[in-house]
Amino acid sequence: MSIIKLSEINKVYQTKEIETIALDHVNIDVKRGEFVSIMGPSGCGKSTLLNIIGLLDRPNGGKVTLLDHTFDKSSDTELSQFRNANIGFVFQSFHLIPALDVAANVELPLVYRTGLSARKRREKVEEVLQRLNMTHRMHHMPSELSGGQCQRVAIARAIVGSPSIILADEPTGNLDSRMGAEVMNILHTLNKENGTTIVMVTHNESQARDTDRIIRFFDGRVIS
Ligand SMILES: Nc1ncnc2c1ncn2[C@@H]1O[C@H](COP(=O)(O)OP(=O)(O)OP(=O)(O)O)[C@@H](O)[C@H]1O
Ligand SMILES: [Mg+2]
Repeated sequence: MSIIKLSEINKVYQTKEIETIALDHVNIDVKRGEFVSIMGPSGCGKSTLLNIIGLLDRPNGGKVTLLDHTFDKSSDTELSQFRNANIGFVFQSFHLIPALDVAANVELPLVYRTGLSARKRREKVEEVLQRLNMTHRMHHMPSELSGGQCQRVAIARAIVGSPSIILADEPTGNLDSRMGAEVMNILHTLNKENGTTIVMVTHNESQARDTDRIIRFFDGRVIS
């Protein structure tokens, strides 16, 4: 069963001087529970693709279907509600909020959920931090953590709301190889044990080979 379906997606960026075709009639179908890698040279449209799958950006043409919902004419509020409930993001540069401690960063996606008491939220935060071996850092600030620890916190934040899809944009790009391997282990465990569907952009061939499938991009198109 397909959980992510892109049909004929186009994305054009228009700036003063030039028009960039970032995605050119892209068709992609990801099955529930799949772990897919996206590879391709710099500037070929990988991040643009993840932003469109993750409803952070809208295409100029084509159709995005996630979990049987299609989003042609949805309002920004509908998009962000759907995103908050179903999608977790992990970025190369972590994107933690520097002014919030670890627990508050991880709690953020839950704050926008109705019907969750503060106590229930804290329970969930503690549960995911324990799972990622970060409980002892709960009250640390992001500036007090190593890169690998920051990425574990970012993953905790991505999974605290139990999303069915995780989108990861070069999640090990800023980590040394040992920390990178640890983050990859966490993603593989989430995929196997929770059945979370993962789409990951990577420049690392050996990481990509460990996933179910590699989608290769060039100049805004899927080439294999
Ligand atoms: N907001 C924007 N405005 C104008 N052009 C943009 C914008 N975002 C991306 N682009 C252009 O769209 C193309 C695709 O960019 P994208 O960030 O998706 O590439 P990428 O494959 O993720 O590259 P990298 O591997 O370097 O991260 C590039 O030519 C880029 O310059
Ligand atoms: Mg990118």
